[in-house]
Amino acid sequence: MKIAVKKGDDMHLHLRRGQILRSVIGFTSSQFKRAVIMPNTGPPILTAKDAVAYRDEIMQYQVGDFQPLMTIQVTDCTTPAMIEEAKEAGVVAGKVYPQGVTTNSQNGIANFKAIYPALREMQNQQMLLLLHGESPDPEVFCLDREEVFLSTLANLAGDFPELKIVLEHITTEKAVLAVKKFENVAATITAHHLLLTLDDVIGNLISPHNFCKPIAKRPEDRWTLRQAAISGNPKFFYGGDSAPHAKEMKECSNGCAGIFNAPVALPLLAQIFAKYSGFSFLNDFISKFGADFYGLPQTKETIILAEKDWPVPNEYDGIVPFMAGKTLRYQVID
Ligand code: NCD
Ligand code: ZN
Repeated sequence: MKIAVKKGDDMHLHLRRGQILRSVIGFTSSQFKRAVIMPNTGPPILTAKDAVAYRDEIMQYQVGDFQPLMTIQVTDCTTPAMIEEAKEAGVVAGKVYPQGVTTNSQNGIANFKAIYPALREMQNQQMLLLLHGESPDPEVFCLDREEVFLSTLANLAGDFPELKIVLEHITTEKAVLAVKKFENVAATITAHHLLLTLDDVIGNLISPHNFCKPIAKRPEDRWTLRQAAISGNPKFFYGGDSAPHAKEMKECSNGCAGIFNAPVALPLLAQIFAKYSGFSFLNDFISKFGADFYGLPQTKETIILAEKDWPVPNEYDGIVPFMAGKTLRYQVID
């Protein structure tokens, strides 16, 4: 059996730079028409100039008609003039990492008031705010960091009612409820958070390739995320958060957070939606709701998936993909 799905949008993607970028870009450009490119590279993307150079680097790799939607990281040093320049250069969003919450976020912010001038300008410029929604307070227990962040989200949503805010890669029932509450807030959901709970990370033997931030939570959180994703509520759309790290950076002490799911993105989403919603809202989830929230035209192309067992390779260029060694029920065919 073959099914046609939209070649849509991955609204949260890490591509890195140099060799890793070269290795991973084709997985996304072959399955999605556009992707929102995260700025937490080393060094980070902080200015219009950085974003333009990064976009040029991405476009070098024969990505066809793939469109990278560029972001800059908003830090204490981001001025309103920098926001204006970024907007002029085609940057669609500013990403905020609370300090120390995830990969390359040492330069993140501790006090949100410090970025209010930048946020005000983003609101003026109709640039989106993308939030890594976890508390930076190291005293907060890791499973509670998303929930504790929700009061900051409430402040931001109230103080900037015209600013479109995306709470990224949500993992909890509480986050789903908060997103529904604020008119100017939407959320991305990853495929791995629709599948995993904390048990899949540390419940049996330790599984570093299922370790990401925010960490997968409880079965009831996963259930609520699935309901949000398949419900056809336009506030919830796909952001894969594919985050490649070399195998040796994952399989070690102090292993990095991040799941490399780009190779399996559409087959996995098809499998999940087939199981829980009979495909009804898959196209909206990957090509309508995100585009609408970002104010972009919806993509038109489709891509064909075959219902055919696909054993996921163990590695791609030294990077272990999500579901490595497992068999998926769908595969992309040209
Ligand atoms: C991401 C990365 O590796 O860049 N890691 C992750 O666990 N999701 C950063 C992020 O989105 O938190
Ligand atoms: Zn991410």
